[in-house]
This record gives sequence, C-alpha cells and structure tokens, in this order.
Amino acid sequence: MNNTLIVTGCAGFIGGTFTFKALSMGYKVIGVDSFINSNPSTVNKIAQKFPEKFIFIEEDLAKSTNQLKQSINGIDFDAVIHFAGLKAVGESEHEPLKYWENNLISSTNLLSLMNAHKVKKFIFSSSATVYGDSTVQPILESNNIQSTSAYGSTKIAIEQLLKDCARAGLVDVISLRYFNPVGAHQEMIIHEDPYDMPNNLMPRIIRVALNLDKKLHIFGDDYDTRDGTGERDYIHIDDLVEGHFKAIEYVKNLKGFEAFNLGTGQSVTVKEIITCFEEVNGIPISHEYADRRSGDVAKCFADPSKASDLLGWSTRKSLEDMCLDSWRAVKKI
Ligand code: UFG
Repeated sequence: MNNTLIVTGCAGFIGGTFTFKALSMGYKVIGVDSFINSNPSTVNKIAQKFPEKFIFIEEDLAKSTNQLKQSINGIDFDAVIHFAGLKAVGESEHEPLKYWENNLISSTNLLSLMNAHKVKKFIFSSSATVYGDSTVQPILESNNIQSTSAYGSTKIAIEQLLKDCARAGLVDVISLRYFNPVGAHQEMIIHEDPYDMPNNLMPRIIRVALNLDKKLHIFGDDYDTRDGTGERDYIHIDDLVEGHFKAIEYVKNLKGFEAFNLGTGQSVTVKEIITCFEEVNGIPISHEYADRRSGDVAKCFADPSKASDLLGWSTRKSLEDMCLDSWRAVKKI
C-alpha cells in the first residue's frame, strides 16, 4: 500500500470534501468526475492547493474508462472510493433510465477496471434511501431494504452488484449509508452550492438567508412526528468524511461486503433545524407550509452503533456546528 486512492465524483460536495481531507492527510489521489452534476471550481481549488499529489481526470465512467485506465497503469492503490452518481430523488422519478444508466453502468465499468488492475478494496457511497419508508426507527443496517424512487433503486442495485462481486472474491466492499450530510469542512473551501437550484433543506435555507428566495417552503406539517414536520438525521460533513477514513482502515482486513450507517442517531425536525439556524446565525428564515413533497418519508434516522462498534467511529459535531458551518462556508465569515 502506498497511500494512493482513486476517488470518483471528486468534484461534488462530499467527494470534494473527502478528497481535500485525504490530500491534507498525505494521501495521493487520482480523482475522476464527469461534471454532469458538478462543476470544475471544486477541482480547481483542490488542484491549486495540492498540485503535487492530485491528478484529475474528466471522464464519464458510464461511457468510458479509457483515460482512467491509462492513468492508473503501474500504480498500487489502497482503495477506490466511489462517490460519483446522480442523486436527485425527484428527477430520478421522471428520468429513471438516466439514473440506471449513469449510476449502474459507471459502477460496473469501474468494477471491471478494478478487477483488471487487481484493486480489491472498495468504499461505496450508499444512502439511507435504501431503507425506504421504514416503520422501525432508528434504523439498523439489518433493516428491510426497499426502494421509494428510481434513485433509491439504483443504490440498492449497486449494493447487490457489490455483494455479488464480493462473494466471488473480486472485491472487498464497505457500503456507507449516508443520512443527511450538511455543514462544511474546517477550511471552508468546499461547500454545497446554494446557487445551483438545490433540492435539499440546508442549501434551501441558505438561499433564504442570502435573499435569493423570499421564503422556505416546509413540505408538510401533518406528519406523525414531534411537530408535524419531517424528521431526519443531519450529519456534519467532517464526521461523514471521517467515517470514510475509518472504513479505509477497516476494509484492509475485510473479506466480503459490509454496510454501515453514517448518521448521528439523533432525529431533527424541519422546524428544529430552522430554529437552530436562526439562533446560531442570527438570521431569520421566513417560511411557510406547503404540501408534502412526493416520495418523502416522515422519519429517517440512524442507529449508528455498528459503525461505532466495528469502525470505532462516532460523530462529534452538533446541530449548531452544522448550521454555523453551512452558513460560514457560503459567506466566508
Ligand atoms: N424539506 C423542506 N423544504 C425544502 C427541502 C426539504 O421542507 O425546501 C424537508 C423535506 O420534506 C424533508 C427534510 O426537509 O423532511 C429533508 O429533506 P432533504 O431534501 O434535505 O433530504 P431527504 O431526507 O429528502 O433526502 C436526503 C438525500 C437523498 C437521500 C436521503 C436519504 O437528499 O439523496 O436523504 O434518506 F436519499
């Protein structure tokens, strides 16, 4: 092992933050992105800061792996970290083929390439969406898996693909099931882009704080939750990224496939996160109630005890940190 990683989706919020941290820790990174749902600015920032250790390849892995193949010849890798993928739940319901083609085919292509190069260790960015509308909360990894969107179906299918490949001895896999990542890393160089018409709650709150939107729409106030609004498990990006480094250590001695929840174990309602944001940043967020968003579940939060027991990982950052850092990264304050 020579501390070298292949990172797909390195231009995204999570892949980019991970890449930045990995390079800061001394890893070399070959990063790949197609810019289908990201832009070059994150890659440029990373390349400027770490010109020696970062190689970037612009390639759509669903179409070709030729460039990546050429760049990895003769290099030994510790692991592949596969962040790349389309992730908008609503869009996936209108364009399922786009999601299946992009998410599934890029994964099979990547696995074929790794197999040819004898790279066995694989970390996959999965999602709590694989649990669908679970009646059991908090959710353990052993929970039923069910899809509520085409996006969710692709995450479930890729996990199945990885299990099959692991059973055949082609790869050893850790699938990290993310809950709701927010915040920004300490250096605040990479963050979610509130200008890019986001679907998620935190960047929508930021848009109101920036006066880009007049009001936040709260999707539903009649859920069976503490205050009627949706309950989620928001996790600071620093804690989420740290889970990947623990996984890289753990996968070294793993044979087969393991899934881990990356969440705090605390559920937070939409109203609670708005109030927290307003208090820590001193900015009012005007909001109004709207209809439920199609495909949304009432509650989704993790039981993270498996990651704590086996990976030695637990979250450190509070909801206040998440709200402060999400805002500071955008405002650079
Ligand atoms: N919400 C609003 N208004 C908004 C946006 C969101 O009220 O403008 C609410 C939603 O209804 C939900 C909560 O805020 O109750 C969180 O919504 P997000 O869109 O931020 O996140 P989701 O939990 O719906 O989805 C996220 C990821 C998915 C992933 C899922 C896993 O975006 O990719 O978590 O549980 F599949």
